[in-house]
Amino acid sequence: MEHKKRRVGIVGVGKYLPEKVLTNADLEKMVDTSDEWIVTRTGIKERRIAEPGTPTSDLASKAALQAIARAGMKPEDIELIIVATVTGDMAFPSTACVVQDKIKAYNSSCFDISAACTGYIYALATAEQFIANGTYRNALVIGAEVITSSIDWKDRSTCVLFGDGAGACVLSSVDEGGILGSYLASDGRHASLLERPGGGSRMPLAKDVLDNRMHFLKMQGNEIFKLAVRYMLKAAENVLEKCQLEIGDIKCFIPHQANMRIIDAIMKRLSLPPSKVYLNIERYGNMSAASTAVALSEAIEYGVLKKGDKTVLVAFGSGLTSGSCVIEI
Ligand code: ACO
Repeated sequence: MEHKKRRVGIVGVGKYLPEKVLTNADLEKMVDTSDEWIVTRTGIKERRIAEPGTPTSDLASKAALQAIARAGMKPEDIELIIVATVTGDMAFPSTACVVQDKIKAYNSSCFDISAACTGYIYALATAEQFIANGTYRNALVIGAEVITSSIDWKDRSTCVLFGDGAGACVLSSVDEGGILGSYLASDGRHASLLERPGGGSRMPLAKDVLDNRMHFLKMQGNEIFKLAVRYMLKAAENVLEKCQLEIGDIKCFIPHQANMRIIDAIMKRLSLPPSKVYLNIERYGNMSAASTAVALSEAIEYGVLKKGDKTVLVAFGSGLTSGSCVIEI
């Protein structure tokens, strides 16, 4: 007998941003940069910074509890927790297991997904499968990073770009709308363009690793820029075609918020007017897996996306990974 798949949708969203704001003026005092350079090259004006030593699970748990409450549920109703992050609390256990304990969601299976800035979309697409096939009823999907913990504050080419945050949603089976389609891709040939080389099995933490600052994020920004535009476009076009939708059917695009110039290039190629794109890069910078998660949460919270509206999430990140999904709210 053929198994009928359930329709899966978002029934609650949440977010958490650390209180501390780091402005471009603050960065001018730390490295040789200027507000003018950062704004014109990236579109970022300020970002949120977690206090040193704050575990990612703290941010993730706060966003999660808000999403669960807004879904009208209790933590014990959650049967699956996926945390998308590249700045987990520790190498192991998974941050999802730590979150499970912090929010007391003891009826859930838990794991992390490592797909950098595309992590939230990878996690949504993964959780969707478990609910669609009937394995679980309610899943908690979180994108959370304390990425400032892996930033070299002496490297002006990267330290101005990133910020910390967390976004979450609860997925359940729904009668209409929901996740209409998703697309995931990877191109490991470009893995070395954006990496945090030190601290893993290839380069275990040791004095020379620390002295050479190899435990910090390293990025070849120029190369990534070109690939980001190409792969984000491909991901957006692919998922729209898969869902048989046109740009005109979409209320609001939610792109990964890495650089305003990357977003501008995509808007131009897709003929997207600014009114159809959700932006928070100016306030938060690039929060890796938390970027699309926080943006989706805000777009729903602020009424940009209402019931029945369709949105496209599209992202790229270290890997290089890329992905997209269409959601009817
Ligand atoms: N302030 C002032 N000058 C700077 C700064 C800074 N913060 N950073 C770099 N510069 C200088 C460079 O030294 C260089 O000077 P030079 O010409 O004398 O050598 C000049 O500015 C131009 O540098 P570029 O790297 O060519 O600048 P570009 O216009 O490419 O912008 C940027 C750099 C913003 C990093 C851009 O390449 C970019 O956004 N790339 C994509 C990054 C990205 O999206 N990463 C994804 C991360 S997602 C994840 O998975 C975590």
